[in-house]
Amino acid sequence: MNIILLGPPGAGKGTQARILVEKRGMVQLSTGDMLREARTSGTEMGKKVAEVMDRGDLVTDEIVIGLIREKLESGESGGGFIFDGFPRTLAQADALEALMADMGETLNCVIELRVRDEALVARIVGRSTCGTCGEVYHDQTKPIPADGKCTKCGGTEFKRRADDNEESLKTRLLAYYKQTSPLLGYYHAKGKLQRVDGLADVDVIAASVGVILDKSA
Ligand code: AP5
Ligand code: ZN
Repeated sequence: MNIILLGPPGAGKGTQARILVEKRGMVQLSTGDMLREARTSGTEMGKKVAEVMDRGDLVTDEIVIGLIREKLESGESGGGFIFDGFPRTLAQADALEALMADMGETLNCVIELRVRDEALVARIVGRSTCGTCGEVYHDQTKPIPADGKCTKCGGTEFKRRADDNEESLKTRLLAYYKQTSPLLGYYHAKGKLQRVDGLADVDVIAASVGVILDKSA
C-alpha cells in the first residue's frame, strides 16, 4: 500500500502520516523533513536549500527527486510508503511514477486534505514540534503538556520552523496553487484521487483516511 498525502501547507499531512506510521507500520517519506535535515549539514547545497525554504519557494525538482530516489533505493518499505509533501510538481509526479515502476510497486491512492486558506494561517503560526521525536503540537488545538514533556517521548525541547510565519506562508500557498494543485487533476484523471475534509478533528480525519486505505488495498 503506497499513498500520497496532498494538501496546502498546514493541511495536516504530517499529523496524519505519523498516525499511519503508528497504526499501520507504514514508512513516512517527507521531503520537507529530508530537506530540513540537509540544511543542518552545513554544505553548499544545504545553505541554498535553507534560503529557498525560508522564503517559502520550492526547492528544485532535481534535488528533491534525488532525495526520494535515495530513500526508495535504501529498501526500507515496511507496510508501504506515505509520500508527505511529495510530489509537488508534475515533473516530480512523473519521476515518482517511473521510480515506482522500476521497483515493481504501484501507487494505491492520493488523499487530498482540504482546508481553506484562513484556517491554514492559524495552524502554521501556532505549530511547534518535539525536537526529539518530531511529534506535532499546536498552541491552541494540541498544546505542549503543562509539565513541558512530549507526550510521545518525554523530550523537553520543542522547535518552531523558520518558514512558519505569515510572510513565508503567502509564498508557500502561492507555490501550492501554482505548482502543486495541477496534481489534483493529474491524479483525478488516473482515478486515484480521494478527498477528505481537513477541517475535521484529527481523529475523524484519521478514521476517514483509514476507510479510504482499506478500500484501496
Ligand atoms: P513541508 O515540510 O512539506 O511543509 P508543507 O507542505 O508546507 O506542510 P507543513 O509541514 O507545513 O504542514 P502539514 O500539512 O504537514 O501540517 P501539520 O500536520 O504539521 O515543506 C517545507 C518546505 O520544503 C517547502 O516550502 C519547500 O521549500 C520545501 N519542499 C518540501 N518538499 C518539497 C518538494 N517535494 N519539492 C520542492 N520543495 C519542497 O499540521 C499543521 C498544524 O496544524 C500543527 O500544529 C497541527 O498540530 C495542526 N493540525 C493538524 N491537523 C489538524 C486538525 N485536523 N485540526 C486542528 N489542527 C490540526
Ligand atoms: Zn517527542
